[in-house]
Amino acid sequence: MLEHDVIIVGGGLAGCRAALEITRTDPSLKVAVVAKTHPIRSHSVAAQGGIAATLKNVDSNDTWEAHAFDTVKGSDYLADQDAVEVLVREAPDVVIDLEHMGVLFSRSPDGRIAQRAFGGHSHNRTCYAADKTGHAILHELVNNLRRSGVQIYEEWYVMRLILEDNQAKGLVMYHILDGHIEVLRAKAVMFATGGYGRVYSTTSNDYASTGDGLAMTALAGLPLEDMEFVQFHPTGLYPVGVLISEAVRGEGAYLINAEGERFMERYAPSRMELAPRDITSRAIVYEIRAGRGVNINGSAGGPFVYLDLRHMGREKIMSRIPFCWEEAHRLVGVDAVTQPMPVRPTNHYCMGGIPVNTDGRVRSSGENLVEAFFAAGETSCVSVHGANRLGSNSLLECVVYGRRTGAAIAQYVQNRKLPNVDEQRYLKEAQQQVQGLLEQKGEYRIQEIRGSFQETMTEYCGVFRTQEIMEEGWRIIQDLQEKSSRIYLDDKGSCWNTEVVEALEMRSLIVVGKIILASALNRQESRGAHFREDFPQRDDSKFLRHTMAYYSPAGIDIDYRPVAISMFQPQERKY
Ligand code: FUM
Repeated sequence: MLEHDVIIVGGGLAGCRAALEITRTDPSLKVAVVAKTHPIRSHSVAAQGGIAATLKNVDSNDTWEAHAFDTVKGSDYLADQDAVEVLVREAPDVVIDLEHMGVLFSRSPDGRIAQRAFGGHSHNRTCYAADKTGHAILHELVNNLRRSGVQIYEEWYVMRLILEDNQAKGLVMYHILDGHIEVLRAKAVMFATGGYGRVYSTTSNDYASTGDGLAMTALAGLPLEDMEFVQFHPTGLYPVGVLISEAVRGEGAYLINAEGERFMERYAPSRMELAPRDITSRAIVYEIRAGRGVNINGSAGGPFVYLDLRHMGREKIMSRIPFCWEEAHRLVGVDAVTQPMPVRPTNHYCMGGIPVNTDGRVRSSGENLVEAFFAAGETSCVSVHGANRLGSNSLLECVVYGRRTGAAIAQYVQNRKLPNVDEQRYLKEAQQQVQGLLEQKGEYRIQEIRGSFQETMTEYCGVFRTQEIMEEGWRIIQDLQEKSSRIYLDDKGSCWNTEVVEALEMRSLIVVGKIILASALNRQESRGAHFREDFPQRDDSKFLRHTMAYYSPAGIDIDYRPVAISMFQPQERKY
């Protein structure tokens, strides 16, 4: 059996930052990163607009308190304020640390790190590397990791978390290259497995974002927190859904409807295009519903609105947001210097996740913790984003909480022994699972079920929700889950069998989708990204609390946990 002091699942920003911190704290520790893709292909590489921190390079009046307030207000008061305070206080330090590692941030004329405007932030505090900030940060972190002695298992799909007697002991993983299975044990396991964008049919997320870490945690009997809060980014490029960064609006672009109006005036007059994402996404859908969306031929009544950059000029577009220009040009043939881009909301981010405390330790319920199990980044819920995340706070969360969790793990494993694990039992079960998939004589191809599932989640649990619609979605997904046990695979081989991976991923997608639906059905109010047309008001008396959802094949149990309010009392949220 393979063994390490620490195993981190996920090679994105949170996982790499944690691994680096562990080796910085105690270089004698044997650390492994297990990743489904090569680390620099993790979804963090696709982050565009930036990372927030009150460096005060552009706006000397900015403060950590203002960053905290913006984040809490943006969260519709559901964020845990103790966790937010940690996030924003540590932000300047983690950004400077990244710079010292070699990250090439864009600069202002005086040579300092440049900072731009972003939605919901009251000051220009988003640091960036043009519109490829995730790329710049992840590449440098992975470079640093390569020199640190951390072992990287790349292109391994983790099938199972080994959790016994409230203790994480290791995991079971499948090598995508040749199909062989290994059991690993460790003194501590950390999940940094990212989000679940592929639950939805239109998403800015990459193909690997299938919620595997979330599903494995739920299947191990642990709760997931606040899963009803699904972020839809306002400006997905129509029709493909890829991200057109909020930085484009931060640099001055307008949202325009079929009548040529800057319609955000109606929804967020003081912030206009830089309102938080939940408000802006709903505004776009309201415009489309009202017949003021645009069609491909430019007529009214269509499925998208325009993002208009033309007044910004070629020089600014090409220097500040060249990648967004390139995406629109390459994917839909639009030259944004002379033509507006077609956009509409696309699934983007998971505010909920595996519940953790501010040291990244996973909660088993309320305040109780699981031994030897940690999580950070998008897959976790600490909760700094509450019901709606502000743009450029997620790279920040990955780096702040990746670093903290790494430091906490390095302490935690001191003087601990490797756990006992029944390797043969876990190997046999996993081999039977894969063999069963290969031999199964089913009726459905994976894509039939996966495609219908994604369409169902998009239609029945999207930007707007009602009880009736979600209950119908639940029925369809129950049926799809039953059918998913009757799939067949064309590829029976062991070499690079992506069908086996897709079949395993489908289980993750469906488990996560059901938890999102059940959590959304139970929250009978509207808050942040969760908008119930049948309960359009926020209801603090009943729902100023975090959802804790426990999955079992028989059903999903919902419980709640209090919100930490230490700085700002909830108020009506207006922009
Ligand atoms: O719009 C963006 O560039 C995305 C940033 C984020 O999600 O933080």
